[in-house]
Amino acid sequence: MTRYRDNPDAIRALVQPQQVHRDLYISPELFELEQEHFFANTWNYAGHDSQVPKPGDYITVDIAGRPLIVVRHTDGTVKVLMNRCAHKGSRVVNGACGNTGKFFRCPYHAWTFKTDGAPLAIPLKNGYEGTALKDCDAAKGLVPVRHVRLYRGFIFVKLNDVGQDFEEYFGDSLSSIDNMADRSPEGELEVAGGCLRFMHQCNWKMFVENLNDTMHPMVAHESSAGTAKAMWAGQPADAPKPMAIEQFVPFMSDYQFFDGMGVRVYDNGHSFSGVHFSIHSKYSGIPGYEEAMKARYGDERTAQILGMARHNTVYYPNLTIKGAIQAIRVARPIAVDRTLVESWTFRLKGAPDELLQRTTTYSRLINSPFSVVGHDDLQAYRGIQAGLHASGNDWVSLHRNYDEHEGREPEETSNGTNELPMRNQYRSWLKHMTLTMEA
Ligand code: FES
Ligand SMILES: [Fe+2]
Repeated sequence: MTRYRDNPDAIRALVQPQQVHRDLYISPELFELEQEHFFANTWNYAGHDSQVPKPGDYITVDIAGRPLIVVRHTDGTVKVLMNRCAHKGSRVVNGACGNTGKFFRCPYHAWTFKTDGAPLAIPLKNGYEGTALKDCDAAKGLVPVRHVRLYRGFIFVKLNDVGQDFEEYFGDSLSSIDNMADRSPEGELEVAGGCLRFMHQCNWKMFVENLNDTMHPMVAHESSAGTAKAMWAGQPADAPKPMAIEQFVPFMSDYQFFDGMGVRVYDNGHSFSGVHFSIHSKYSGIPGYEEAMKARYGDERTAQILGMARHNTVYYPNLTIKGAIQAIRVARPIAVDRTLVESWTFRLKGAPDELLQRTTTYSRLINSPFSVVGHDDLQAYRGIQAGLHASGNDWVSLHRNYDEHEGREPEETSNGTNELPMRNQYRSWLKHMTLTMEA
């Protein structure tokens, strides 16, 4: 039975100002429609240009259910192509990454394409003489994605032609990416090492919502971060903290702390927590780093850059970043109840190696499949995914600190425990989900 296809009014009824319908998380039909409409109408993160440094380097990624290749073209620019052979539709490359040289060669019948997708050669070409091939899509090569934007090395794509351009879509939320890149004495980031992939048995929205959910750490992480805090209790205030303790303990801060952090939301679902300070603010200095920053930026600008220690920034829908520790997590929706979360760590070019060590330690302790903190969150998401199948209440509450005037300005700042970021996400979800649907 289809309830939502070709029925934007039924979809509109799912998002109320202060609550959303459980079908957003559990309906396979809505998941399918999200791939078709919502993800294709929004700007999604595809990868970082440091993953494809040399001509011919490529990575593959699925966005909105479509297989894509991100490749460094022979002229040095980054191209994004549909990973679909112009002949019979085979994926042209099958691995996660590699170098294709000067052209792609389909593994099925060896049609070849330049790294911008243009057709190059077909075996026994004279067999097509007198046919209509030249007038068909098959003659055009690999389909390029038209809306591609690199921002400080971050590669974003939008698959449909509708909707806002990149700058309009992200607005001033881009300041979090700027801050992460500015933390490099050279102003540049590069992906360091591989990717930690963590399969979550939940809908992608639970993960994305949780990034600015500040009412859960002191509860859900009590067994992990709380244990670390208890272990450290009684140490003199000036005792040097091991890195793990420094990273675990702030999770157990009280409600007042998280409320005081503040939250800021932007049009189109973007937001960050940690307007005034965050769980990353009190990390100890790393020898040589501040000096390198001051040499590049001067004292005042360095203080500005390092003083901005935002918690999580959500680039709605699929990218979440922690600028203060140079780590990102990317949500890859697989099914209505399955989301692959990728954690990537970045090196700040020109900074001491200890900074990368701090990032990798954080990713291992908090974000990886081997972490202890990450499993607390996963358990919560799994609980919601199962719990929402109960009957008697079809709605998910997002009432906390609701204000009827919210959502009118392109940017709003509020107290840190406000559920405003989630309500802001669902306003964007509804807008982009219905943008390409006929009534
Ligand atoms: S499917 Fe690619 S060459 Fe035939
Ligand atoms: Fe958490």
